[in-house]
Amino acid sequence: MKAAINEVNFNEIQTEVLIVGTFKHPENTENWSEFVSFYGSSLNKWLKSGDVSTDRKVLTKLPTLQDGQLQRIFFVGLGDRKSLTQDDLRDIFGTVGKELVASKTTKVSIWLESFTNDDIDIEDTTYLAAEGIGMGLYQVPNYKTSSNKVDYYLDEIELLTKSDEQEVLAYFELGQVYAAAVNEARTLVNMPSNVLTATKMAEYAKELAEEYDFEYEELGKKEMEELGMGAILAVNQGSTEEPRLMVMKYRASDDWNDVVGLVGKGVTYDTGGYSIKPKDGLVGMKGDMGGAAAVLGAMRIIGETRPNQNVIAVIAATDNMISGNAFKPDDVITSLSGKTIEILNTDAEGRLVLADAVTYAKQNGANYIVDVATLTGGVIVALGMDKTGALTNDEAFFETFLEASVETGEFVWRLPLTENDKKRLRKSDVADLNNSPGRDGHMIFGGGFVGEFVDNTPWIHLDIAGTSAASTSHDLGPKGGTGAMVRSLATLVERMGEDK
Ligand code: BES
Ligand code: ZN
Ligand code: ZN
Repeated sequence: MKAAINEVNFNEIQTEVLIVGTFKHPENTENWSEFVSFYGSSLNKWLKSGDVSTDRKVLTKLPTLQDGQLQRIFFVGLGDRKSLTQDDLRDIFGTVGKELVASKTTKVSIWLESFTNDDIDIEDTTYLAAEGIGMGLYQVPNYKTSSNKVDYYLDEIELLTKSDEQEVLAYFELGQVYAAAVNEARTLVNMPSNVLTATKMAEYAKELAEEYDFEYEELGKKEMEELGMGAILAVNQGSTEEPRLMVMKYRASDDWNDVVGLVGKGVTYDTGGYSIKPKDGLVGMKGDMGGAAAVLGAMRIIGETRPNQNVIAVIAATDNMISGNAFKPDDVITSLSGKTIEILNTDAEGRLVLADAVTYAKQNGANYIVDVATLTGGVIVALGMDKTGALTNDEAFFETFLEASVETGEFVWRLPLTENDKKRLRKSDVADLNNSPGRDGHMIFGGGFVGEFVDNTPWIHLDIAGTSAASTSHDLGPKGGTGAMVRSLATLVERMGEDK
């Protein structure tokens, strides 16, 4: 998509649609009177009658009254000027993106100044427009052979502003980078598991690494056996598909001693194994690699923005299947760390693959770890579908992350992890740990189990079982994969780099 910047001159617009931010008192917007004289004075009447709404998130589409290229104006209701937040504006631009898809608009102009207030300047607006519209434009790829194929793309965005061209363009491009990475993660989550196998995911990761010059390493079944990755191997045991561990290193400096590890659960399909899921619980389990998608998306942003922070990404991919070879409850396995695990539930597989992935990240230099995973139904019970659940062992690290998540508008809520919880994870007659201490508060056990493998490394666990896929369409995109945590992880790394 092409982006161009031009001065606010309504008579010169060559695109199909003009997007106009419409606050409750639009007359306070700079150049509003020029806009009214360009559009036609009936506008004042319609604003008064409510035919053009200034209510927040209400979009009014009107045709233009003159001949020319410009066909339509989208009046985007912003409500009260003072109370509009950046999160509101991102969502609003998301709905604009969705409307551009619905109307198949290929060339659009955005009047940037019409969206600003005292707290949201032109740079913020530009960034949020790129990010929000970029996410709103997302369409789920499908396998339909005739109708409804994805055949619409926005070709051109013209930004109308009096501000400095280069600066505005840089913010716009950054927003586009973030949105594109989110959308890629969404597509990975939306892909069926017969298409996105662990091997395929690794091909994707390798290409990503090549594109951005990351060091790349890939472990298959044989390498895992040699290293003793008994946890991920146990999960993979019932499968005809090979597992993959993908490792990417982004070097911001010559020394490798200040490294953030991003660790993702990449279960390409979770049947539950012998602790099999009920049939309604199976549908959607193609998305059990949402953590892997989040890490891959964040790495794409990191590759584009090149922050001043070393990063290692480790993604553990396999499906969780049933066969004569599959692992079973009562099995005892030995993880890469050497810790033994009594399997009580084969459906608590995510924590197993993460155990080995976290250990591998540590062995390869990670001294901060964030793991991200669609780990438990428990987080949905606790927090609903719109909040990511978190655990941590480090207040300061968590604070930095929380600030990043507030910046991106991704809601994260921390749950406690107590000594008593840890005691229950370590309770087993036959092994060091058990993989399922109980259903009470089990989000904590899922993440807490992973915590047993990080030791004293500052660590954050993110359970995105609720947030990774949406069951209905929302402001920032359609039903399906959301790309949850892509932006927060990338922003965390960016902010950590700035502190040096
Ligand atoms: N992949 C699931 C968690 C999940 C549930 C993700 C719903 C997305 C939507 C995970 O592997 C799982 O099965 N967890 C179990 C853990 C239990 C066996 C302790 C769960 O949450 O029921
Ligand atoms: Zn499971
Ligand atoms: Zn799972």
